[in-house]
Order: sequence, then C-alpha cells, then structure tokens
Amino acid sequence: MSNIIEIQSLNKTYKTGREQLPVIIDLTLNVKKNSVLVITGNSGSGKSTFLNLVSGLEVPTSGNIYVNNKRIDKMSEGELSLYRRYSIGLVFQFHYLLNDFTALENVMLPLYMAGTDKKVAREHAYLLLQEVGLEDRISHFPQELSGGERQRVAVARALINNPEIILADEPTGNLDEKNSRTVENMLFSLVEKHAKTLILVTHDTTLASHAEHHMELVNGELHDV
Ligand SMILES: Nc1ncnc2c1ncn2[C@@H]1O[C@H](COP(=O)(O)OP(=O)(O)OP(=O)(O)O)[C@@H](O)[C@H]1O
Ligand SMILES: [Mg+2]
Repeated sequence: MSNIIEIQSLNKTYKTGREQLPVIIDLTLNVKKNSVLVITGNSGSGKSTFLNLVSGLEVPTSGNIYVNNKRIDKMSEGELSLYRRYSIGLVFQFHYLLNDFTALENVMLPLYMAGTDKKVAREHAYLLLQEVGLEDRISHFPQELSGGERQRVAVARALINNPEIILADEPTGNLDEKNSRTVENMLFSLVEKHAKTLILVTHDTTLASHAEHHMELVNGELHDV
C-alpha cells in the first residue's frame, strides 16, 4: 500500500532566549494509507509537537513532511488552511466542543462553515453521531453529556469534513477505563470503516497494545515497540 505521509530528517528545536531545546531529532517515518499508528512516550518527549508538525500548526526547524506527495512545510497560508480543514481531523484530550451549541450543531458546524448546505450538513452530522452511538443525545449541550459522550462527539466532529488523516492527542486522557475503551473502539472502527489513516499519541498503554503499529518517541526519535 502507498504511503500517505512521508517524513524525512525532521527536526524541531525550540528556542527560548538563549536556550535551544531539540525535541524532534532527525526523524524519518513513512505512514501507510489506511493504517493506524499509536505513539507513546514520556511526558515532554515531543508527542504533541510531532502531531502539531504533521497538522501544520508548527513549522519544522528542518526536514520535510510530505502528505500525499505534497510538502506541507512549504505550503502557503492559504494552502495550509485548506489542508487543515479538509485533510486533517483533530481529536484532543479536552474535547473543545462549543458550549453554546448542541452535539448536532458542534458536529455539523465545520461542514456548514465550509459552505455546505445547512440541511445536508445536519444530515451528515446526524449519521456520524449515530455511528458513535449518540443519536439519542443530539440535542444535548456539552455540559449535558458525560465525558465519554463528549469525546465521541469530538470524534464525530473530526470526521465531518471527511479528512483522510485523523490526528489524536491523548483522546482518552481524561476518561476512566470503561470510557477509554469505548472511545478507543469507536476511533479504531470508524477509521477502518471510513478508510482513514490514524496517528494517535497517548500514555494509555492498553490502547497502544491494541494498535496495528506502536512506536515510542525517545530522545526525539521514533522506535518500534
Ligand atoms: N512553544 C514551545 N516553546 C518552547 N518549548 C516548548 C514549546 N512547546 C513545547 N515545548 C517543550 O518541548 C518538549 C515537548 O513538548 P510536547 O508538548 O511535545 O511533549 P508531549 O510528549 O506531548 O508531553 P505530554 O505527554 O506531557 O503531553 C517539552 O519539554 C516542552 O517543554
Ligand atoms: Mg502532549
């Protein structure tokens, strides 16, 4: 199968004052289309930094990141915002749902904002909420949902613009064991069903042990586990 992401000699060094902090060091990685890669690593090892580089939120100090053979680190602001809107779906530890909007509105919003007809956006959002088992909760506001339910809404929202790649940063970080497994199963099954590519970073070793590929970030480098 072909690679959707190709990363070559990637370096990220943060500069604060006179301090230089190398976080990602000469990292090379190919990610196959429709695969699942879970990355673990100690706190501060650079997991979030790595995802931010792939999502184009951070700019590499050196090296190349190709997504579908296109160098994202050389994209213009405009290209980058289209890339982030249509190619990438993000899930975080904290759900970042909008509190004044219902579950349905939260999920439909990115599609509606991208110019899709409201009724169509609503239907798509409903179908995704159904897939994450929340068809009975579509009118609930975030504060009327459990932590696990909020994360499932966030997963549905990450999929609404049909991105090829899902990047998840500690998606089970705030959840208990039971909800962690529910969110994990949902992410894995949706990614497989919709033929997405998933890169997920986590401290959750149970989740990592269930992944197709598991790598660890140590001293700025990725190693197979
Ligand atoms: N904007 C920044 N400026 C300077 N240093 C930064 C910046 N962002 C992150 N760092 C440093 O880079 C290192 C990696 O941070 P990162 O957030 O990627 O770690 P992480 O593996 O995601 O950790 P955690 O598991 O705690 O979320 C940390 O030592 C952090 O202090
Ligand atoms: Mg982090």
